[in-house]
This record gives sequence, structure tokens and C-alpha cells, in this order.
Amino acid sequence: MSAALSGAAAAPAQRDLVIDVRNLTRTYQLGAQEVHALRGVSMAIERGEFVAIMGASGSGKSTLMNLIGCLDQTSGGTYLLEGVDIAALDEQTLAKIRSRRIGFVFQSFNLLPRTTAAENVALPLFYSGQLADGAHRVQQTLSLLGLGERLDNRPNQLSGGQQQRVALARALINQPAILLADEPTGNLDSTTANEIMGTLRDLNREQGLTVILVTHEQEMADFADRIITLRDGLVLSDIRKEAPAAASRPVRLQPAALPGASGLSVSELLSFLTMAFVAAFSAIGRNKLRSALTMLGIFIGVCALIIMLAVGEGARAAVQAQLKSLGTDLLIVLPGSSRGGGVRGGSGSASSLKVADGAAILEEDPAVAVISYVNRQSAQLENGDENWSTSVQGVTPSYLTIRNWGLSAGRLISEADEREGRTVCILGQTVVDNLFGEGQDPIGATVIVKNVPMEVIGVLAVKGHSASGQDQDDVALIPFRTSQVRVLGVAQPSTAMTQGGTVYPAPPNPFNIQAKLQGFVQTMYIQARSAAEVKTALQQVTQTLERRHRIKPEQSDDFSVRDLTEIAEVADENSRVMELLLAAIASISLLVGGIGIMNILLVSVTERTREIGIRMAIGARRFHVLLQFLIEATLLSLIGGGAGVLAGIVASKVIAHVAGWPTLLHTTVIIGAFCFSAGIGMFFGFYPARKASLLNPIDALRYE
Ligand SMILES: Nc1ncnc2c1ncn2[C@@H]1O[C@H](COP(=O)(O)OP(=O)(O)OP(=O)(O)O)[C@@H](O)[C@H]1O
Ligand SMILES: [Mg+2]
Repeated sequence: MSAALSGAAAAPAQRDLVIDVRNLTRTYQLGAQEVHALRGVSMAIERGEFVAIMGASGSGKSTLMNLIGCLDQTSGGTYLLEGVDIAALDEQTLAKIRSRRIGFVFQSFNLLPRTTAAENVALPLFYSGQLADGAHRVQQTLSLLGLGERLDNRPNQLSGGQQQRVALARALINQPAILLADEPTGNLDSTTANEIMGTLRDLNREQGLTVILVTHEQEMADFADRIITLRDGLVLSDIRKEAPAAASRPVRLQPAALPGASGLSVSELLSFLTMAFVAAFSAIGRNKLRSALTMLGIFIGVCALIIMLAVGEGARAAVQAQLKSLGTDLLIVLPGSSRGGGVRGGSGSASSLKVADGAAILEEDPAVAVISYVNRQSAQLENGDENWSTSVQGVTPSYLTIRNWGLSAGRLISEADEREGRTVCILGQTVVDNLFGEGQDPIGATVIVKNVPMEVIGVLAVKGHSASGQDQDDVALIPFRTSQVRVLGVAQPSTAMTQGGTVYPAPPNPFNIQAKLQGFVQTMYIQARSAAEVKTALQQVTQTLERRHRIKPEQSDDFSVRDLTEIAEVADENSRVMELLLAAIASISLLVGGIGIMNILLVSVTERTREIGIRMAIGARRFHVLLQFLIEATLLSLIGGGAGVLAGIVASKVIAHVAGWPTLLHTTVIIGAFCFSAGIGMFFGFYPARKASLLNPIDALRYE
């Protein structure tokens, strides 16, 4: 009668013990009070036995079953399952035992709601990785229990007895060695109860399944070969009926070796991932509005992010393109400001640059490749009855090459044109449009430029408006020499301020000869040998000019040398403000979105605590639970992020169209935004997922 008797009496060597518990205790702490549910239970159960555990309510039957089923931890004593001490096993191995060796049937069915009978039964297969032939096995097992026709019914469409049989099928699907059933017939009428008990006994007799059954009905216990009675957490009696000889029973469920603690195999992981994705989708689909609201933050964040990048990249690309059209290896030299009678003329007003300066630069500065000069003046052009005022520029032959400016018709200014000061000109498209009628060919025509007839030799390629809104095509180019000798000249001020404030008187001109003002330059375009040498060229040019102009160290220069990348940087600055604003919106929204996901997931974990318990009871590892919730979080943020990407693309197109800003979207940006939103889901989903995975199986199952 004592607890020790039942286990120790027989010679253990001959017996194949599947369950061997010794002096098992379980104490619950209820505040200051200790509840001793088990006070030292010992029992040994052999393979192929059919045992009924009886006892009054509160005697510890369920507690014992939960311990045997590896759902709960003992407070004391030892428990050997198929010869292995459970206390020494890690969480992963315990999960594998629940998955492969033990089938558990609960008093309250514990089926997943809103999931069909077939899906409920198939669930353990995903955790054990035995998905091959799964559908067939599900069908077979359910048919065995008389539910072959109800595969697609949900638990709420099934009667209590049918639900219990679905739960039984689920416990049997992985062909466990041991079936634990805690009052499986407690809620059922006697006919159904007898049917289920009959099924259990057949499984025991025909397949050698070890069955341990908790019941408080003698009628049910009579199906068993052995009845153990508990009272107040102790074994009161252990009575064996005359059982059929063990040898006559088939023992199909032989493999006594416990599953090893090896990691997940690929097939297991794949089958699990399939299930987890399906489960995550259906969980999201079940709460459509809630999920949509959760995704909103990520949606807005990613949308803003995409617009930000599209606008930023677009602006940058536009600046780059503009730079490229100007030439990235270009320096521009402008004269300094003039000063006469206290009035400063502003940058470029002084005539301090000379052709000779350019020649010296080309000769002395090794980083300089090409140099070109420009003189501008506003002048009137005439062609027959038409006339048009435009900017007439004297340029050296290399000017158009340096500026990356092509022709749409005709030829360039040649060295001979320059050398001989020929009266030829190249017109911009705007000038052509204003001087020539429809269908008139400007090439070869003669136009009057400031009273000098000139032959049109080319038409410039259309450049459009500059960033400052200036029409770049409203221009006429003539050879530099021609401009100096015949057309423009450069007004030499009577006093030139080339030495930081020192006034030189005009040279005497006794014969009042109208000097041909040669040798002054308004703008120099200098091309460095390479883009990398721009800075060096800038230094060298500055030094050469300072020396030639005799600028003392403490004086300010009477010229300025500009590097185009500086100009580009200023342009960049403008788009950066917009980018920063959008980045702020994006990051705040993403943060809020992430918190939203975390919040909803925490709610979801609480709501589905029982589901988590069920999954763990049928073999889910903590890792599986963690992954499942992570997948759900990631899916939420990915769907939100995906919609955000689409909306962002559309919005940036609309912005480009309506506001006229250049936008540009790289594929990498789109892929990056996707990955980023997935990352947010994972980051913010991790805490709730981990919380779910750390639940104790039995606590989760009891959660209300
Ligand atoms: N989670 C718990 N926290 C505190 N006490 C518990 C808990 N679970 C069970 N108990 C206590 O342990 C004792 C044994 O409970 P158990 O559920 O094992 O009884 P049982 O034999 O299955 O009863 P029944 O036939 O009513 O199902 C009871 O006194 C119960 O109050
Ligand atoms: Mg109970």
C-alpha cells in the first residue's frame, strides 16, 4: 500500500519501465501558503500497460499527469522516462519528448479555435518535422476515430465528444509511445465515453501503446488493466487486474532511445516555417482592422523615407548633372571689384584680368590643362528687318569644349578664326528664333553685330534655363580676338583699382588715340588636368595671379578663383533642409509604428497564451514560439512597409510632376526600405515574442 512498494517490488532488470517516478513531490506556493499537491508519489509503469489513475478531486491526479507529461517541474523526487532522468534534460529535449514520445489529451480538449479538425491534428507534425505524407496520416488517424467526414470542421462546429476525439487524434498523430489522458471522458455522455475508452483500449491492445488515464468514474477505470488510486498527494492503492501476457502484445512503439538534443534539421525548420507563415497570415487576417492600424505607423514612416530619398537623390543627381554639364574639373576666374570715388562696383567689375595672366597661368601652372577667356557685352544683332539684343561673348576656340557645350548645326570657332580675328559668329537657339523666320537656315547667313557684318557658322545646342532662371540659349559667340579688335573692346577704366585701393592715374594720351583696348578679360575658364587636380590648380592659379598682380600677403585679392564643386555644395544645401524634415517625420513615424507593433503583439501574446501553452504541450520549442511571433511582427511591418514603399513611389512621382522637383529612386533604396521595415518588425517584435517563448507550458495552459 505504501508508495515505495509498487515501484520497488519487482525485479527491475526484466522490466521495460517507461515511467518510473520515485518519491515525487509538487508544492504550489499560494502567497504565504504552501499547497502540497503531491507528497511523495512513487510508481513504475511498464511498456504496453493500460493504467487508470483514480482519486478524489484535489488528490493530485492532474498534477501528476502534468509532471509525467513534462509540462511541469517537480518540487522533489526523481522521474525517469524510458530510463532517462528528466531533471537532467534541457528545454529543447523536453520539447522533443512532448513532440515524439508522449501524446497528451486534456480534460478540456484544448483545441486551437478557428482551426479545422485536420489542421489541429496536423499541428504536431510541423513541430516534429514529419510533414511528409502528413495529410494522409491526418486523414487516417481521424478516420480511425470515426471523424473521417469532419476534417474541415472547426471545433465550434463539433460536439464535445467529437472535439475530444480530434484531441485524441492530435495526441496520436506522431505515434507516441505513451498516451496521457486527463479525464478524457469527463465532459461526455456515457455512450461517447465508452466509444472513446474502447478506442483507447484497442490502441493499447493492438499497437502496444502505453496508456495512462485519469478518471474518477469506476466504469471508465474498468477498461484499464491496473488502477492506481491517489489520496492527498499520495498513492493509496495500486491494483493490477489479470492482464494478457505481455509477450502476446505487439510492441510497435519500440524505439526506447529518447530523441537526441541535436539542433533543428532543415526539413523540420522548413515545415515549421510554412506553418508559422500560414498561422501569422491568418492571425493578421483575423484582426484586419487592428492589423491595418498597427501597420499605419510603419506605412507612413517608410512612405516618408522613400519620398525623402527620392527627393534627396533627385536633387543630388540634378546638381551632379548640372556640374557635369559645366565640367567638374573647371575653375572660373573672375576679376575683383572696382572702386571709383567710394563706389564699389561689385565682383567682376574691375578689369584686372589680362590675357597675359592667362598665358602665364598656362605656362607656369602644371595642374592647368586648358584656359579660355570670355568677354561679354550686351549688343544688338540685326538680320534684315529683325533685330535682337543679346549677350555677345568673345570666346577663345577652346571655350565650348571646356564648357561641354555642343553645336546643333554648323562648326566651331577655329584657331584660324581666332588668329585672324574673322567676323564669324555662333548663335544660341533663342537668338536664332528671334532673328530668323521659320524654315530659314541661319548657317551661312550674315548678321550685323554692333554694326559689323558677321557670318553665322554654327548654332549652339539648346541648354535651357540655368538654375537661376537665366536663358542660357540667349547668346552669340564670336572669336575673342574679333571681339577685342572689331566689336566689343573692353572699357578700360580711367583709374584701375588693381592694388587694393591705390589709385593710379590714367596714362597720358597726348594724341588722343582711341586705344584698342586689348588684353583684358572678363572671365577665365580654366580646366584642370583632371578632376582630382582641381584643388591643386586652384592654388597654383591663385599664387600665379597674386604674384603677377603684386598682391601683398595682407591685401585681399583683386580677383576670385571659384571651384564649381563649391557651387554644387551650396545647391546641395537647399535639398538637405527638405531631406532633414522628411527624415524627422520618417524616423518618428517608424518609431511610433514599431511601438505600435510591439503593443499589439503584447496584446496578442496575452490573448493567445493558451494557444502558446497548447503548442508547447504538443511539442513546440521555445524557439518555435519565439520565431512564430517574430514572423508575425515581421509580416506586419513588411506589409506596412511594402504599402509604404508603393505609396512613396507614387508620391515621389506626383511630387516630381506637380512641384517640378527632380526625384530619383534606386532599386537599392526600395529593397533597403523593405529590409529596414522587416528589421523594425523584428526589433520591436522581439520583446513580445521572447515573452511568449518564456512562458511555462502548464502556466500558459491554465491561463484564463
Ligand atoms: N496552479 C496551482 N496553484 C496552486 N494550487 C494548485 C494549482 N494546481 C493545483 N493546485 C492544488 O493542488 C491540489 C491538486 O490539484 P489537482 O488539479 O492535481 O487535483 P485533481 O486530482 O486533478 O482534481 P480534479 O479531480 O478535481 O481534477 C489541489 O489542492 C489544488 O488546489
Ligand atoms: Mg484534475
